[in-house]
Amino acid sequence: MSNYQIENLEEYFKVYRESVENPKAFWEEIAENHFTWKKRWDTVFSGDFDSANIKWFEGAKLNITENCIDRHLADRGDKTAILFEPNNPNEKAQHITYNSLSKRVNKFANVLKAQGIKKGDRVCIYLPMIPELAVSVLACARIGAIHSVVFAGFSSTALAARIKDSSCKLVITSDGSFRAAKTIDLKGIVDEALNECDCIDSVLVAKRINSDISMKTGRDQWLQPLLDQALEVCEPEVMDAEDPLFILYTSGSTGTPKGMVHTTAGYMVYTTYTFKNVFQYRTDDIYWCTADIGWITGHSYIVYGPLANGATTVMFEGVPNHPDYGRFWDIVEKNKVTQFYTAPTAIRALAKEKIDFVQNRDLSSLKVLGSVGEPINEEAWNWYNENIGKRKSPIVDTWWQTETGGIMISPIPYVTPTTPTFATLPLPGIQPALMAADQSELIGNQLEGSLCIKQPWPSIARTIWGNHQRYKETYFSAFKNMYFTGDGAKRNEVGYYRLTGRVDDVIIVSGHNLGTAPIEDAINEHPDVTESAIVGFPHNIKGNALYGYVTLKETVRTRDKNQLQKEINQLITEHIGPIAKLDKIQFTQGLPKTRSGKIMRRILRKIASNDISNLGDISTLLNPEIVAGIIQSRLSQ
Ligand code: PRX
Repeated sequence: MSNYQIENLEEYFKVYRESVENPKAFWEEIAENHFTWKKRWDTVFSGDFDSANIKWFEGAKLNITENCIDRHLADRGDKTAILFEPNNPNEKAQHITYNSLSKRVNKFANVLKAQGIKKGDRVCIYLPMIPELAVSVLACARIGAIHSVVFAGFSSTALAARIKDSSCKLVITSDGSFRAAKTIDLKGIVDEALNECDCIDSVLVAKRINSDISMKTGRDQWLQPLLDQALEVCEPEVMDAEDPLFILYTSGSTGTPKGMVHTTAGYMVYTTYTFKNVFQYRTDDIYWCTADIGWITGHSYIVYGPLANGATTVMFEGVPNHPDYGRFWDIVEKNKVTQFYTAPTAIRALAKEKIDFVQNRDLSSLKVLGSVGEPINEEAWNWYNENIGKRKSPIVDTWWQTETGGIMISPIPYVTPTTPTFATLPLPGIQPALMAADQSELIGNQLEGSLCIKQPWPSIARTIWGNHQRYKETYFSAFKNMYFTGDGAKRNEVGYYRLTGRVDDVIIVSGHNLGTAPIEDAINEHPDVTESAIVGFPHNIKGNALYGYVTLKETVRTRDKNQLQKEINQLITEHIGPIAKLDKIQFTQGLPKTRSGKIMRRILRKIASNDISNLGDISTLLNPEIVAGIIQSRLSQ
């Protein structure tokens, strides 16, 4: 298939043109030639953004696990599908072949069935980065259950909210997890969460840290004995193209997290195609994405995209600095990793350490370096290019979102000339637009605006679980018949895109998407707090860090501020997780508000970033006098 793997720039432009002139023919050809279907589609595509009723490959029948596993067994059953690298470097790595993955997924699928899980039921997965995580995701897909993976760094309150929102019936977890030299009591967190949920019938527990945990009779069961008894064959459930495959929660600028719903066929086609092109994957390559499967990057580019391509995908349980800052490079050297995909925050943290950690390792196997999750600054890009890629491995700065399902704007390595900090050009089928505040599209180059996408693509999330209205309002109401990303972007003189950051109240901290509202809600629960506002400010490792403005009740303003800060961060840890802790807290007499009572975050953002030269017109505020006090105490910090 000539169109499938793009090999030079001329071909990219040709394929891109075809993909936007005739998207149906473009995607139909890819779907037809690279996947296993039980029944062909009736319609390639229907719907539009205005009606928010998008469908791809309607009428088709398939199971994604047949595409990720079964179809590879004849030719590459003994090839490693998942290469598991444990947290402890002295623990042996596991090479799980496609044959063995097939058995494990089928057995797990039978265990789920025996627990009464059926097509359409929701299963919550709260696991560390161990093979059971990938296996349980695929086992759900095998039987048509909708998986909802919750990142195992979220607190019990956050977990409970996600379980309840999609009324999951079963939770898959482990006794605990390893994190560097520590262990985390995951089962304890699940137990606490389940005190608040009545929808869960059973909990399956994988053994990882061998800790002594309590098991609730009639609800909790160890996973392994059930797997030992299960049959190795489980016929794949026949799924419609538009049947939900999974729910994955992401933060919004307001309100509760949004359960983004991805469906089966379009997601499969798009993640498989983009994996092949963005990483230029070749048969014997060893591909490693350092993300957690709790995020979309792990779903699309550790599990589904690589496995659908018959790739070897590395799963790493640990962290970049354990036992030392050379851990990533040890794994690259040991396994001769060819594609390495990580986040700018990790690159910045590693770049700060002694270069010996890099220089003592052989990184010559690397062919492609990837970046995802936040804008990559020039310094980090250059360090990555020089020290890891040795100026010979192209960097693919991949821009995309939980909602987009797959990579949208990215260089194709060895095809698209790269420029530091630029995600460069849209992938085939993707039509970006920069929009002005007056709703008009900015035509031409050297412009900056709100980034939108003009046409639906196969892996766009189809709805927010249980709230289609919110889906419509969040993504399709800002600009007519466009998908609004929430990001700002610039287009340079050659049409390359550079992402400039969020234009809403979502803050990207260390590549994690955090909404301000749930953090403020957590702080406001403190009995001494009247109100609070969270903004982001630049941080040299995390990209952004969180800055909290907190107004205390009059009666407690003399309380010990250090103690209060600890209590506030403790509340945030309990409600969301340690990732949402504040770096700085400033106690204020009040917060600047518009006359309609809305907090003026624009002003607070500038003050937090020490950028007070141009605050704009503050005379229209309800309480302009409050601003001077906030600036003064910021300057005196
Ligand atoms: O602001 C953009 C940023 O991450 C947001 C999406 O976050 P999430 O849904 O958690 O998915 C992250 C992994 C795909 C985007 O709206 N972002 C993601 N990739 C980039 C980026 N910002 C700049 N450059 C990128 N390469």
